[in-house]
Amino acid sequence: KEYELILAIETSCDETSAAIIENGKTIRSNIVSSQIESHKRFGGVVPEIASRHHVEQITLIIEQAMEEAKVTFSDLDAVAVTEGPGLVGALLIGVNAAKAIAFAHDIPLIGVHHIAGHIYANQLVQPLSFPLLALVVSGGHTEIVYMSEDGSFEIIGETRDDAVGEAYDKVARTLGLPYPGGPHIDRLAKEGNESISLPRAWLEPDSFDFSFSGLKSAVINTLHNVKQRGEEVKIEDVAASFQASVIEVLVEKTKRAVNQYEVKQLLLAGGVAANRGLREALEKEFGSSTVELLIPPLSLCTDNAAMIGAAASIQLKKKNFAGYDLNGNPGLEL
Ligand code: KG4
Ligand code: ZN
Repeated sequence: KEYELILAIETSCDETSAAIIENGKTIRSNIVSSQIESHKRFGGVVPEIASRHHVEQITLIIEQAMEEAKVTFSDLDAVAVTEGPGLVGALLIGVNAAKAIAFAHDIPLIGVHHIAGHIYANQLVQPLSFPLLALVVSGGHTEIVYMSEDGSFEIIGETRDDAVGEAYDKVARTLGLPYPGGPHIDRLAKEGNESISLPRAWLEPDSFDFSFSGLKSAVINTLHNVKQRGEEVKIEDVAASFQASVIEVLVEKTKRAVNQYEVKQLLLAGGVAANRGLREALEKEFGSSTVELLIPPLSLCTDNAAMIGAAASIQLKKKNFAGYDLNGNPGLEL
């Protein structure tokens, strides 16, 4: 057989997804079933509802992914699944589906870290060359990760409080925008002016860490004060000012990390990588520099199983397999 095929499963949060990945880089199929509509009226992901949806969807989604890729279980070299971090009840649905398939068809089982998946989404776009840095920005994570080689992750900076996506969603909620708020703020920011002065949390001069809770509070306080004075503020301007602060800090810290670590590539990863303002700012900063900038297409930025399959291909090479005692681990370390 000339191909290596992995069935990958992702159920860590509110997307049920299954994919077939060929040779770690080609997407044969990538089915994503989003539950956003069911969580919207609660203003965030409700873990119990997420688990129920995963249970209802998982078999159908896996069948669909296999059908679209025209593969059967006997064609598979491994079945990979997001092991953590994420919502434990949600993770368990994917993990148990993967274990059942691995056991029934005697296929190697691979447990994948969700953030490794986000990073390896870039391998579906272009081959990776090391050393590299990845700027990981999602609903649960904000990290700068140094990779000297495949499968080696060193976190050189991370958020000390809120993740970027979390700050986006909280600010959006304050502005009365629907969940998830990130894309709405991104859209409104284009139409507004950066007229509201908001803080930038640089922390210690040599630190690659982030902090976004102060910025979030500053936005909430500003809105409160404006209201108390009986004045009006355009939400487009709030969005533009908030986004400007976030992007300035992300880009500046990334720039310093790139200079210090002398990497070949800079990868953008995670749900907030879908942010148009951030994509444009990084392209402007690194587009003509010696470091190669990789940004996945929008569909591979938010949660999906294809990225899990890409990360799993590295573990398959190293025969880094899991046993049938594989469990969902909400606090799994990278
Ligand atoms: O990676 P992801 O799909 O789930 C996690 O692993 O957390 O990221 C979801 C996060 C949410 O906070 C969402 O608001 C944010 O990504 N997001 C965005 C955009 N699209 C999604 N944030 C800013 N701008 C966007 N265009
Ligand atoms: Zn994610």
